[in-house]
Parts: sequence; structure tokens; C-alpha cells
Amino acid sequence: MLKETFFKIYQKLIFGEAKSPRESFLQDVRVDSFTDRNDTPAEKARKILGQLTLEEKIDFIGGYEWFAVRAVPRLGLDAMWMADASSGIRGVGESTVFPCLVSMAASWNRDLIHRSAAVMAEECRAKGISNLLAPGVNIARVPTCGRNFEYMGEDPYLASEMACSYITGLQENGIVATIKHFAANNSDYDRNKTGSDLDDRTLREIYLPAFEAAVKKAKVLSVMSSYNPVNGVSASENRRLLTDILKNEWGFGGFVVSDWLSCYDAEKPFNAGLDLEMPNAKYMNRKNLMRLMDKGRITVADLDDKVLRILTSFFAVGAYERPIADANAAENGPAHQKAAYDAAAEGIVLLKNDNKALPLDLSQQQMTILVTGSRAKDTETGGGGSSRPVAYRKVSLKDALTERVGQSGKVIYKSSPSAAQMKKADAVVLCVGFSYCTEGEFHDRPWKLSAKDRKLILKAAASQARTIVVLNTGGAVETEEWSGKVPAIVDAFYPGDPSGNVIADVLLGKINPSGKLPFTFGKKWDDYSSVSNYVDKPEKFGLLRITGPAGNRTLRRLKKPFVYEEGIFVGYRHFDTAGIDPAFAFGHGLSYTNFEISGLKLSGGKMKKDGSIEVSVTVRNTGNVDGSEVVQLYISDTESSLPRPAKELKAFEKVFLKAGESGTVKMILTEESLRFYNPSKQGWCVEPGEFTVSVGNSSRNIAETAVFTYGM
Ligand code: GLC
Repeated sequence: MLKETFFKIYQKLIFGEAKSPRESFLQDVRVDSFTDRNDTPAEKARKILGQLTLEEKIDFIGGYEWFAVRAVPRLGLDAMWMADASSGIRGVGESTVFPCLVSMAASWNRDLIHRSAAVMAEECRAKGISNLLAPGVNIARVPTCGRNFEYMGEDPYLASEMACSYITGLQENGIVATIKHFAANNSDYDRNKTGSDLDDRTLREIYLPAFEAAVKKAKVLSVMSSYNPVNGVSASENRRLLTDILKNEWGFGGFVVSDWLSCYDAEKPFNAGLDLEMPNAKYMNRKNLMRLMDKGRITVADLDDKVLRILTSFFAVGAYERPIADANAAENGPAHQKAAYDAAAEGIVLLKNDNKALPLDLSQQQMTILVTGSRAKDTETGGGGSSRPVAYRKVSLKDALTERVGQSGKVIYKSSPSAAQMKKADAVVLCVGFSYCTEGEFHDRPWKLSAKDRKLILKAAASQARTIVVLNTGGAVETEEWSGKVPAIVDAFYPGDPSGNVIADVLLGKINPSGKLPFTFGKKWDDYSSVSNYVDKPEKFGLLRITGPAGNRTLRRLKKPFVYEEGIFVGYRHFDTAGIDPAFAFGHGLSYTNFEISGLKLSGGKMKKDGSIEVSVTVRNTGNVDGSEVVQLYISDTESSLPRPAKELKAFEKVFLKAGESGTVKMILTEESLRFYNPSKQGWCVEPGEFTVSVGNSSRNIAETAVFTYGM
């Protein structure tokens, strides 16, 4: 209880309302008195830079009012306001709350993510926000990371594709996207002090790809450095990450912003490539930077580069040349609620459905449904911390089912039902999981559901054949103790505003679930490769640990880092290569209909250098319900000079098919699909030889395979 109470207060205190940025700082000076409308964003930035004094440049690279880039009214530059985060705008009044990001990743639907981000962009413009601090893309290395719910799962390719769709959805609609947290922020246990130590190949193949794709494909305009040290060097002053890789190797032209209070020095982040210190200029300020400049330790040229990056990014989305708040943009409304509902509907994963336990078909019979479980009356919309917007409304699963069942049945809610009551019902629905106090930023969470929830599930399973478990969680949990005893399990994640409504619509069959797991449910904790070098009680909570100063390096040095000994073998890359059966596999998700994947064809048996191969399959909906299937394509390298995973996801397409309908799905493989990182060559390479293509609807349910050669 102490922890829940603490986090209820903490969430309000730390993540309460931000300053409403609607009012402008501008008087009568307009920015286009100094720039030409036809200039490129970089040309406009350069012209403004030429007008700035040294003091104004220094002030410009330190945050203002906790969430803004400061205004320069004499040049017609308004303040550029930021807001969190991946599921909608937090802290500037109420906003449409989308499902947690891992649930959006579970949709495997690029267009849906793009549409969702476009809606969030409109709400940003309505509220005067020019930069959404999203998406979070850190890989789910351990299942209990407190922030897995606001990231995109365990696979670099899925995270890359989803991140690029999200970023373009924001930036095409006038909002700077900030991809985060760069890099290797894979646990929030003691995040202020615990580092991530990993080898180059692991960094490149697993933890950087989503950032690299964001920079090279989606042209993301902002990257946020993480709290954790990476190989002993704090991310905000890690020159290898921020300059050598991000800016020089990948050609990143936007700005690097620090996570809040994650700077510990003036010179180091400045020279490492940090461009903007948030939430304020605690270190990179006039006093420190002028002194360093006088000593020749930092240069005006580097200062100019930082200012140019920030200016260019906001010019690139038109933020400096439009009113700070867009009077024509909608802050919410039915269209936005529908967008959140659609995202939630496609992000729910049907994990198990034996004996047609689902859907609960009220058209066939009057049904008494007994609803229970820790989240039945308080169905959670999202995890805790900075990513938690205030939901316009929150409908519990209990209320949503009651409203929908109406006269065609009966819904009984019991917090502690008796066995007899559960036996008497026609079905028992248990909604179980965590709350924003037990799953969220600042700490990791338990691997198991609460003892109370687990006991209730076992009791229901012993009393009622039609027991349905709904997981209201942000990632994998232990299921082995009870999953074999119940006929149906639904992973509903944190569905945002749609909350109980969308879950009820899945249970009652109005929605045919089409989500696929973006991470692996292991049977046992020790089945995960990464937990050997983690902590034994992830949920262990210490006030100092939470509130301790982010930048106390002495404290940091006392903490041993997480050493990523498992290397690239994370998630299904480990389970499949080690031959360990998961409880539920990466890419797994059932439907109320069935699909058949067949007719795998390659456009050729050989891929030449710089070449590509088109892979096509036929998908047929063999059931009597319309639905969507996700065709997943994995590659395996038959022989390689370095160990490679048994399979790696390299393409996917989601297809909607009416009952009985067939369709052809085409996907393209290129050299990039086949590459691996070779540290001895300090680069990516593709070795000539044989590769296998495996196509199916889950990493463990492969329909067909084919072989081709590269470079032979
Ligand atoms: C938080 C989070 C980051 C967020 C920022 C601003 O501590 O780590 O994701 O965007 O600070 O709230």
C-alpha cells in the first residue's frame, strides 16, 4: 500500500499539469522579417543564427519552464513547447489517450500507427505543443522493465518499422518527434545509477536499429539521450553514441536533447554532442560555458551547430511560422476517440481460446457473466510515470460488459466470489494485472501477477469451465501456474481511453482480435537469457532509489552495471536458438477465424550484391468471420562466421480478409535483411551463402520455408 500511495502522490506531484503553452511570447516582430519563406529550414536557421548574440545562443541550448525551448521575441521566435509522450499529450489538460505503445506495436499495422500519431499531432497543435517526446523504442530485454509498456517489444525490426510510422505520422503533421531513450535503457530499476554494459555487435544489432531507422528512414528531428551510462559513460556525455555514431556515421541532422536532469557536467555533454539540456540550463549555462570558451575548452562553432540543429528542426515542421496554438485543430472529439479505439482494437492479442470459450455470444443464449479480478472495476488505461496522460474517461471492464449485455443476460461483479457463485455463472471473466503505481517509470515490476489474482484464477478454473483471463498489463508475466487450467486468455495491455469498452467488444465478438505479441511470454523466469545478469527482486523499491539525484556519479559508481552477457540472443532470438519452448511465442496471436498461409514463392533463387528478392504467399480466411492476419517473414543464415540467431524477423504485412476470401501478400528482402554486424570489421556484412526464408503467423508457427543464396 505504501508504494501505491507513494506513486499516487508522486504521479500528481512530478507529472502533474505542465504550463499551458497557448499564450505567445511574440509582440509585433515576425520571424519572416529575418528569413525568406522560400528558404530551406537550414537557411532560415542560419539567418536567425546570424542575428543571435553569444548570450542568446547559450541561453537557447538550455531548457525553459521545464518543457520548452526558450523564445527570442526580438527575432520573432516563440517558445517551442514539448510534452510527453507516446500514448498522447500529458500535462496540458485532458487529451485522447491511445493504448500504451507496446499495444500499438502489437497491432503490427504501420498505417494504424501512422494514423494514431497524426491524431496526436493534431492535439499537440491544438494545445500549442511543437515537440512530442515520443516514441520510446528501447528493447524489452527483461520482461519486468517498468517501462516496457511504453516501448515496442523485443525485436529491432518490428520496433524500427513501428517507430518510423509513428515519427512520420507526427512530423508530417507539424510536430517534432523525439525518439528515446538513446541508448540501452532496458530497465528502470535504479535507473539513475545502473549502467548498461554491452559489446558492439549487441549494441548495433539489437539496441540501436530502431534509432538508426528513425534517423535514416524517417528523418527523425530529435533524439533523447537516456539516464543510464552505456559502457560506463553517461549517455548524455557519450561522444561515441551522440557524435561518432548518431551524427557522423548516421548523418543525424536534428538535435540531441537530454533526458530530464540527466546531465552532470557542462563541458562533457557539450563536447560529446548534446545539443539541448533539459529541463533547464543547470550546467550548460552562461557562467559555465563562457568560462570554458575563455579557456578554449569549447568552441563557438560547436555552440552554433547546436543552435542550428534546434532551429532547423522546428523550422522543418513549420512551428516557428504558425500561431503557437492552432485554433482549427481538434483537441479531442469523436474522430480522435475512434482513432484510439481502432488502435486499441488491433492491439489486443488473443493468446488462447480452447473449446470456443470466446467470443461470449449473447445472441445464442441468455448468459450470466461473473466478472472479478483486481482490474475488473478499475481497468487500467496506461502505465505510470511521464507517459501517463489524463484520460478523458476510463470505463471499467465490469461497467462496459454491464452496459453491453443489458437485457440479453446478466453481469455480476464480485471482488471475492465464492466457488459456488463462479460455478453457477455461465462464464467467469477475470481482469487481472497491474496499475500505474505498480507498472511504470522509475522502477521495474514483479514477474508474477499478484498472489490474490493468481489465487482467484485458480479458484475460477476449478469452479467454472468457461473461465476467461484478461491481462491488463504492459508486458510478459508468469502464466505457467494457471494458463493450462483456463480455456481462454486475452492480453489487453493498457488500452488507453477505450479501456473497458474495447476489451468488452473483443470478449463479446464485436471485434475479431488481430494483435500479435511483440515480445515472448517465457514459461519460467530463468528461461529468459537476460535475467542471469539482472536483479532477483525487480520490484524492489527504495525511496532513495526513486528520488535519488539522477546525477550523483559517486552513487552511480557504487552500482554494478547490467552486463548484457546474452549478447544478441534476446527474446525469441534466445528461445528459438536454445530450443526453449515459450508459454506464448513472439508474433503469436489467435483470431475468431482461421487463416491458411500457402504458396510461398521467391522471385528468384539467388540474390546478387545490391539485389533483392520478392517473397509472396497466399493467405486464405478459411473461417466464417472476417478478420486480419499478420504474415511474418523470418530469415536464417545457414552458415556464418559468427553465431547468428535461429531466425530473425525481417518483413511482415498485415492483411484483412473477409470470411472465405484469399489474398496475396508480397514482401521484399534486400541485403540489409541479411546483414549482421562484425565487430572485427567494425561494420555490417553479408556473407555469401545459403539463407532460409520462413513465413508464418508467429515465430513458432511457420507455414512454409524456402531457400535462396546470396552472392554465389
Ligand atoms: C522523464 C522520462 C522521459 C520524459 C522526460 C520528460 O524522466 O525519462 O521519457 O520524456 O523525463 O518528462
